[in-house]
Amino acid sequence: MKKILITGGAGFIGSHVVRLFVNKYPGYHIYNLDALTYAGNLENLKDIEAKPNYTFIKGDITDEAFINSLFAETNFDGVIHLAAESHVDRSIHSPLDFVRTNVLGTVILLNAAKNSWKGNYDGKIFYHVSTDEVYGTLGDEGFFTEETAYDPHSPYSASKAASDHFVMAYYDTYGLPVKMSNCSNNYGSHHFPEKLIPLMINNIKNNKPLPVYGKGENVRDWLYVEDHARAIDVIFHKGKIGESYNVGGFNEWKNIDLVHLLCRIMDKKLGRAEGESAKLITYVTDRPGHDLRYAIDATKLNKELGWQPSLQFEEGLEKTVDWYLANEEWVKHVTSGDYQHYYESMYERR
Ligand code: NAD
Ligand code: DAU
Repeated sequence: MKKILITGGAGFIGSHVVRLFVNKYPGYHIYNLDALTYAGNLENLKDIEAKPNYTFIKGDITDEAFINSLFAETNFDGVIHLAAESHVDRSIHSPLDFVRTNVLGTVILLNAAKNSWKGNYDGKIFYHVSTDEVYGTLGDEGFFTEETAYDPHSPYSASKAASDHFVMAYYDTYGLPVKMSNCSNNYGSHHFPEKLIPLMINNIKNNKPLPVYGKGENVRDWLYVEDHARAIDVIFHKGKIGESYNVGGFNEWKNIDLVHLLCRIMDKKLGRAEGESAKLITYVTDRPGHDLRYAIDATKLNKELGWQPSLQFEEGLEKTVDWYLANEEWVKHVTSGDYQHYYESMYERR
């Protein structure tokens, strides 16, 4: 049985990747390593937690002694690394947390894999999941390709860029069999409501102001999270060692247009008069260093590995809204306590 370590599996994207791998590959044993920070939640994986090919391990990727002994005990065949601090606004207030987990944690994992595999790399894979934010920002035209030079602007994207460079340095220097992908904005179920789409859904439902940064002109390229999980599956199994793949759905939206679309969907779902929810839109102080536009060219992934998105955006967004409306308890659990303090301190400044 192949032993695959997935880090960050109790978070948003990680939980979808763990679910896919546990269900699709009964011949793999999936070890989900997660520190369960504010963003990690075992409720995300209730449906698969009793499966015989699944083990959860609570642990911190920055704890070098623990990570080294974990790799020594369980000789993993592959690693899919998603654990990270992931929210740009938090990185602006606490950059060191991002350096610690995203940079130091990644290097500790790379080192542990190198030391446990001892140069016997046959069949081994270290797959690092990264973001399109490492490329910086686009103007009105063009796309990020795998050749676009890195130009990160936020402490989050700088920490992800640094981790990407370490991954490639381990390939160049030690021959570690690495793969990497850089994906655009994900949306879907189990998305922590500090991020744009779930935050807006939650606020619309509760008749709270909808905080749009700046003029709402910034553009993001949205991909359904299960399509990202499928891309990770394809790249893990068929991607070339030492290469990176851009993942995205050619699906660009200005923030303000997206918020209006969500308002229209929610008006219908909640039985409100058309235009009612949009009255909650409130323009607030912009995010410092706010990247104007992200847009991914995913041609390489499509041409070489045959991947393409499965869902139209409106369909995916409606499924997402339905999930949030049907899972009020999940939202209540993750928005109580610490999250309330975060929300008040983040938005009262704006
Ligand atoms: P998330 O914040 O929802 O989940 C991160 C998970 O990592 C949580 O479960 C958390 O508990 C865990 N974690 C954090 N610090 C840890 C540590 N020190 N040790 C062990 N576990 C720790 O993040 P996400 O949105 O699911 O993103 C997952 C990965 O995908 C990240 O690497 C992110 O950079 C990347 N990514 C995200 C997006 C997106 O749109 N969300 C897009 C492209 C790439
Ligand atoms: O592009 C991939 C990245 O997408 C991932 O690497 C990150 O982990 C993920 O968080 C996401 O980053 P963004 O900064 O693009 O996502 P966020 O949901 O925070 O914001 C999306 C856009 O909406 C951005 O232009 C800022 C804006 N925004 C966000 C929030 C939370 C608002 O206008 N109001 C808000 O309250």
